[in-house]
Amino acid sequence: MKKLFVKTYGCQMNAYDSAKMADLLAPLGYAQTDAAEGADMVILNTCHIREKAAEKVYSELGRLRTMKAERAKAGGQMLLAVAGCVAQAEGEEIVARQPAVDLVVGPQSYHRLPEMIARAAREHGHVLETDFPALEKFDSLPAPAQSGVSAFLTVQEGCDKFCTFCVVPYTRGSEESRPPQAILREARQLAEKGAREIVLLGQNVNAYDGPSSDNKRWSLAKLCDALAGIEGLHRIRYTTSHPRDMGDDLIAAHGENPKLMPYLHLPVQSGSDAVLEAMNRQHTADDYRRLIDRIRKARPDIALTSDFIVGFPGESDNDFQATLRLIEDIGYATAFSFKYSKRPGTPASTMRKQIADEVKVARLGELQKLLLKQQYGFDDSQIGKVLPVLFEKRARDQNQLMGRTPYLQPVHVHGDVSLLGQMADVRIEKRTANSLHGVLA
Ligand code: 5AD
Ligand code: SF4
Repeated sequence: MKKLFVKTYGCQMNAYDSAKMADLLAPLGYAQTDAAEGADMVILNTCHIREKAAEKVYSELGRLRTMKAERAKAGGQMLLAVAGCVAQAEGEEIVARQPAVDLVVGPQSYHRLPEMIARAAREHGHVLETDFPALEKFDSLPAPAQSGVSAFLTVQEGCDKFCTFCVVPYTRGSEESRPPQAILREARQLAEKGAREIVLLGQNVNAYDGPSSDNKRWSLAKLCDALAGIEGLHRIRYTTSHPRDMGDDLIAAHGENPKLMPYLHLPVQSGSDAVLEAMNRQHTADDYRRLIDRIRKARPDIALTSDFIVGFPGESDNDFQATLRLIEDIGYATAFSFKYSKRPGTPASTMRKQIADEVKVARLGELQKLLLKQQYGFDDSQIGKVLPVLFEKRARDQNQLMGRTPYLQPVHVHGDVSLLGQMADVRIEKRTANSLHGVLA
């Protein structure tokens, strides 16, 4: 057996891709290992959304080059591959800057890895694949070899929204949806391997518009309805959504599809109309408020989460206050928040009126304080309730199990391992910093 080490950065879609790359390489004799030392192949599955992502990849590659040289001295080999969004964005620049890299493969081309490895061995050179053959890769991926209780399933990729701060439309290409039949097949395979929850992934997952075999288009709501029919599958989630793509049928599904969990990650980024406009979000803060009202009408207990950016170019104190007001109005279960930082090639990176870092730091601190207060409030509101929990794995404290509420909150419970993969009612008793604790009811 050869050893494969895959290091994953960034989002859940990358985690899905990493698992698929490992599945693809298994027939070539590669088994996964959890360290680069001693590996015959190392794949860095990179992310480009955070600041200085490329620089971090280059410094990691520097360390791996030394390791590769030592392995070569000892008579061994280490193939070095860069995958993901940095591979897509940087392309040939990567091998120019770090010649120890053998393979560069973009997120739409990694199904070609086996053939690329063969070419690298034959030609003793670098092999690059960064085309955008939209969704072609899914046809060449093997069936999932295994599954956790909760499994990711990519249904949609790419983004046509072009928010002015974001690199995704450039690294992941335009919006494409997989055919529903292929998704249902993969979901059934996952359920057979033990998946009880499926998390549908897409950069704009609610823009899902799947080309069905009968020439009709399926919406995400329709896909979720069909998935709900799969035996053994208890829960369906999806992420990440855009406010503009929140269709009426999807909103209704939250009230009607019992397997669709009451949880929605719906990033708003800012509460100021001026900033939303400069971000090219194509909706106002009040559009978002009205949308949330409609969603809550369909599913009153839904847990809402969002992403926020503070210190976008031109963001005034008033703009920032408007964001705080929006957060107060909505009431989030939890949320992610970031200081704006420039991404080369995006429109916002060259906007005048960039905001000083001290201001961003102060705003981020204030925003996160409010969000944490809301998170604790939401978590505390569950204390005393009995909730259905799906048990996913052993907790770090080995005598306990970790499961999740319908609202995605982690809960720790004393219970037998036979509960893993099962749903059980749990009485929530207390909250610690990042999780809930309860007893079987
Ligand atoms: N600066 C800060 N945050 C960003 N995000 C995307 N691009 C940037 C950027 N240039 C955040 C957005 C997005 C999340 C995944 O990352 O909030 O929703
Ligand atoms: Fe980036 Fe905006 Fe597309 Fe989300 S919707 S991936 S933030 S461009």
